[in-house]
Amino acid sequence: MDRETMERSNEEWLNGVYEKLLVKMKAECRRVGTDIPYTTGEDGMYHDILETPYGKTPDGEPYLGNWTNGFWPGMLWQMYHATGDEAYKTAAQGVEKRLEVVLEDPEAVGHDLGFMFLQSSVSNYRETGDREARRRALLAAAELTARFNLDGKFIRAWSGPRDSQQGKRMGGGDIRGWMIIDSMMNLPLLYWASQELDDPRFAKIAVSHAKTAQQYIVRPDGSCNHIVAFDPDTGEYINNPGGQGYKQGSSWSRGQSWAVYGVALSYRHTKDPSFLDTAKQCAHYCIANMAVTDWLPMVDYRQPAQPVKYDSTAGMITACGLLEIASHVEENEARFYTEAAYRILRACDAKFANWDPEKDSILTGGTYFYHDPSGENTELPIIYADYFFIEAVLRLRGNELFEW
Ligand code: GLY
Repeated sequence: MDRETMERSNEEWLNGVYEKLLVKMKAECRRVGTDIPYTTGEDGMYHDILETPYGKTPDGEPYLGNWTNGFWPGMLWQMYHATGDEAYKTAAQGVEKRLEVVLEDPEAVGHDLGFMFLQSSVSNYRETGDREARRRALLAAAELTARFNLDGKFIRAWSGPRDSQQGKRMGGGDIRGWMIIDSMMNLPLLYWASQELDDPRFAKIAVSHAKTAQQYIVRPDGSCNHIVAFDPDTGEYINNPGGQGYKQGSSWSRGQSWAVYGVALSYRHTKDPSFLDTAKQCAHYCIANMAVTDWLPMVDYRQPAQPVKYDSTAGMITACGLLEIASHVEENEARFYTEAAYRILRACDAKFANWDPEKDSILTGGTYFYHDPSGENTELPIIYADYFFIEAVLRLRGNELFEW
């Protein structure tokens, strides 16, 4: 296919998807409102997280700190920005008020404050100037900076005692000294706080963490560790436990996508060229791997050939990261990243999308982690696949809200 034909075909696809998105999201917003969805139930519909196991502590207490709880308001703000429909704004602000409680428990909360409060409070503030939203976002930024380990120069990932269940599930070890690639997506909350307060403290912590990630997480071939463990007292490197991918030393595709997008965002906020180089290195690795699987992302780029296990979320996040990189490079290079993003988006749309407005969720095929004997976390509709799909589609149309 010559370039002109390909670009025309992409544009037709984009316009068609946008029309379906308008219908689907209007219906979803009416049904879901201020509920906080994660995945669909057996009825194909969203249910509030507090009515599901994802909204409970291990002791069965209701818990609103799940890292994914900002994606629904993030989607609503994207749609509000694109359409001006007040229903999206009202629902997003209602969810944000529910999430405020998360800030009251610094012991429970983890590094995911960025995901949760960028997409709710910062987006609200950017769109409406709401001072309460700004206050919540600054509180979240302050709690995130408090997770910085001075000697190791990283933001601690998960909360809990040294011998937590989380640590055991992810390969053992003392989680007090763990940093993870996912945190790169939380750093923009710190860049935002520095800009908002005209105070470099927050951004300096973000840059310091990003440099540690470059050194210890990203490997020379552009693949990544999910977790790196340091001694929480001395900051010395210990090892790299396995995490959510196939095995220790493998290449968990969602982690790879956090690297592509997260490191590119650090470039956007700092203009340090080494971040753009690292983001490209990770992007080329992802593109090379997806090009041989019809642009459909596996859960781990080094998983065995059988069983085939996909993760649509990794594809959507990678696509957004590629579009971010495209915005920082010259035209010919940008075309390369944009075309790769289109291929991923179109492949996942063809295989995983459900555009029926009477059912919740657009994309299925999301996988939370590789080893899942129950199958309950494998190839299901996951809210952030939809968030990043919507962000990518709106970005390609030029009417997205920048949420990072
Ligand atoms: N940030 C958690 C995950 O990607 O599963």
